[in-house]
Amino acid sequence: MKSFLYILMGGWFLCSPILSHASLIQEKECSECHRVSKDDTEKSGPDLFYSGNKFQASWLKQYLQNPITIRSAGSTGDPDFLKGIQANSQKHPAVSKKDAEQITKELMALTLYDLPEEVNLLEPLTKGLKAKIKYQFERTFSCISCHQSLNLAGKVRGGISGPSLVNAGNRLQARWAASWLKSPKTFSNKSRMPVYKMEDEERLQLTQFLMTMKNENKR
Ligand code: HEC
Ligand code: HEC
Repeated sequence: MKSFLYILMGGWFLCSPILSHASLIQEKECSECHRVSKDDTEKSGPDLFYSGNKFQASWLKQYLQNPITIRSAGSTGDPDFLKGIQANSQKHPAVSKKDAEQITKELMALTLYDLPEEVNLLEPLTKGLKAKIKYQFERTFSCISCHQSLNLAGKVRGGISGPSLVNAGNRLQARWAASWLKSPKTFSNKSRMPVYKMEDEERLQLTQFLMTMKNENKR
């Protein structure tokens, strides 16, 4: 009877969430530079504790094997950001394809909220609407003063104080981007991104416009 109990307990330990949490993210010490839990202290790299809300899995898998620069002026969450010391001046550690697949799974499991479906329910933008929103993006809201992005001719332009949006359509989840525009503070209490007064419809169309920005449309 006793040994039966031990087997039972052993089984329980093997399945316990604490043990299965011994993850590749921990093993690779990603949390040296990233918050992987909301309660972590401030880190030099961008937050990853809502990765499952924010990123597209296919993009993550690519990025982890072949990191590229997204914030050429550094991460705003970085305590050294205002001192002009760039955490990004070092190359981002890269991992093998197999590890990238595993880490992507782990990152996609990190979610904060169940975000509303709002954007996914809209019709694709018409050409006319796209031109109107491009005007808002560039002029009315001047998003391009802080974000690199693609103009309608597919040329990269824009400021670098915020993350590049050139490949936003492959990198971000539309639902997350729409929630970010409504309330960046939901995700980051230190956000430097302005909160714009706009109608929900405008915000969702702007999100749809962001999602059309993809590397493959670059010329
Ligand atoms: C030495 C510090 C450091 C370590 C270690 C590190 N990162 Fe990063 N990471 C950064 C910085 C800084 C950026 C921002 C780069 C940029 O925006 O150009 C970044 C960006 C990222 C991004 C893109 C985030 C976004 O919002 O654009 C992901 C995903 C990521 N890291 C995952 C990882 C994983 C997984 C590990 C562990 C295998 C890891 N990082 C280890 C510093 C680090
Ligand atoms: C004054 C500069 C500034 C302006 C203007 C600005 N942003 Fe941002 N934005 C930022 C910064 C900085 C971040 C990075 C996160 C942070 O520090 O808040 C950011 C983050 C973002 C993100 C998330 C990207 C990521 O990878 O984390 C999106 C999407 C975004 N901005 C879209 C927009 C849109 C659309 C507009 C115009 C309506 C806009 N931004 C205007 C500074 C700006």
